[in-house]
Amino acid sequence: MGMKKKTFMAAAFYLLCFLSLLVEGFDRSDFPDSFLFGTATSSYQIEGAYLQGNKELSNWDVLSHIPGKIDDSSNGDIADDHYHLYMDDIELMHSLGVNSYRFSISWSRILAGKLVLFLADLFVHRAKNQTLCIKYKYGGWLNPEIQKDFGYFAEVCFREFGDRVKYWATFNEPNVMIKRGYLVGTYPPLHCSAPFGECLSGNSSVEPYVAAHNVILSHGIAVQIYKKKYQAKQGGRIGIVMSATWYEPLRNLTNDWVATKRLLAFDVPWFLDPIIFGDYPSEMRQILGSNLPIFSSKDKKKLRYKMDFIGVNHYTTLYVRDCLYSPCEVADFNGNAFTYTTGERNGIPIGTPTAMPTFYVVPHGLEMMVNYIKERYNNMPMFLTENGYAQGVSNYTTVKDFVNDLDRVDYLNKYLGMLLKTIRNGADVRGYFIWSIMDNFEWLYGYTLRFGLYHVDFTTQARTPKLSAMWYKEFLQGSDSLLKAD
Ligand code: BGC
Repeated sequence: MGMKKKTFMAAAFYLLCFLSLLVEGFDRSDFPDSFLFGTATSSYQIEGAYLQGNKELSNWDVLSHIPGKIDDSSNGDIADDHYHLYMDDIELMHSLGVNSYRFSISWSRILAGKLVLFLADLFVHRAKNQTLCIKYKYGGWLNPEIQKDFGYFAEVCFREFGDRVKYWATFNEPNVMIKRGYLVGTYPPLHCSAPFGECLSGNSSVEPYVAAHNVILSHGIAVQIYKKKYQAKQGGRIGIVMSATWYEPLRNLTNDWVATKRLLAFDVPWFLDPIIFGDYPSEMRQILGSNLPIFSSKDKKKLRYKMDFIGVNHYTTLYVRDCLYSPCEVADFNGNAFTYTTGERNGIPIGTPTAMPTFYVVPHGLEMMVNYIKERYNNMPMFLTENGYAQGVSNYTTVKDFVNDLDRVDYLNKYLGMLLKTIRNGADVRGYFIWSIMDNFEWLYGYTLRFGLYHVDFTTQARTPKLSAMWYKEFLQGSDSLLKAD
């Protein structure tokens, strides 16, 4: 045995003893054999090759090139270069022992050259005051026209890949896409109005609800196509993935309790209630009145196939303060619910803070969120489609610091343990996906936040396993797996 191998074995042995201490109280066999364990990514955040393979520009290609929009002035032009390195990256996943992989398909990579490609037609407006907005052909999500185009896009995917894809999600976090795109105007297409932000165009009281209505109906159309034409022969399942932050009242006051319930309704049920029950939550109708669209009988028909599962992306829990009865700042992206959210009560954080400003470590919040969805939607099958921990980047952090990600191991261990508790208490949760297999382009934060199980050197594209990768591997394959060099 060579020296290098011996050293590796010794290191692996100590790591193993150490990690065994952490993965305490439960192991893989506590979850059903059929349970999906995986990692998650999204196309823009990892692929790069932004002009290769006949791809057209996407809205994020445009936004990331607008000066001042991304914290470190970076973009996803290369990102993890996954477009070229995908075989190696899949090998990394194999070596962890995951049985599934969650990724996204970009419209602009699939539909290039086709008439329906609305994103190809976008361009950037620069106004005198440098405020910018991105213009889509026919107004993008604001125009019902998009429902047909989304259906076309979805059908191309079902037809081309449906023999291999067992779970389809029509959208990832439409609640975030809409709030950020049309309410506070920080994501494409940069639409908003005061007091939520300064944008060249938009109306934060109306547009988010019109755009969301079209997203919900687009979901309905895609599900209908899948169920009528593909599901029987391909045998897959179709659902939607929501960003699901848990909320707790800031003060023990009735108004804050009511506000918390209201904000919860303005978030996940905003999309899931119409899909599952056919209408928006009553809390939304009360506040928004006629700004909230009505589902016509034609709309309702589009929604009749509902869906098969709910995807839950959960990272954090925040406090909620009522702003309806006692005025307070409603300019953040939950302001339309007349709520103010914060991670602190009297200067004390709700859980250990992380490098992502709104993400705190509150495992109990996951239990609350899963139970909320379980009760509200009659225990529809659920997947925890994202859960992960952000490391911050400074001039002083070294690769070694990133790789020794004990705080991430602790986070994942606690959240996964909590997920198991919800399953034992009857929640029909069928999978768990860590965000992310590797560090990648974190939207407005660029490369200043790292969520990966593998560290990525963005100059050389080298991937190095972090402790958390070892932790996941040990959990999935048992302790012996760490003693085998890959
Ligand atoms: C999104 C990911 C993002 C992650 C961490 C999720 O809400 O789906 O794209 O990178 O959160 O912020």
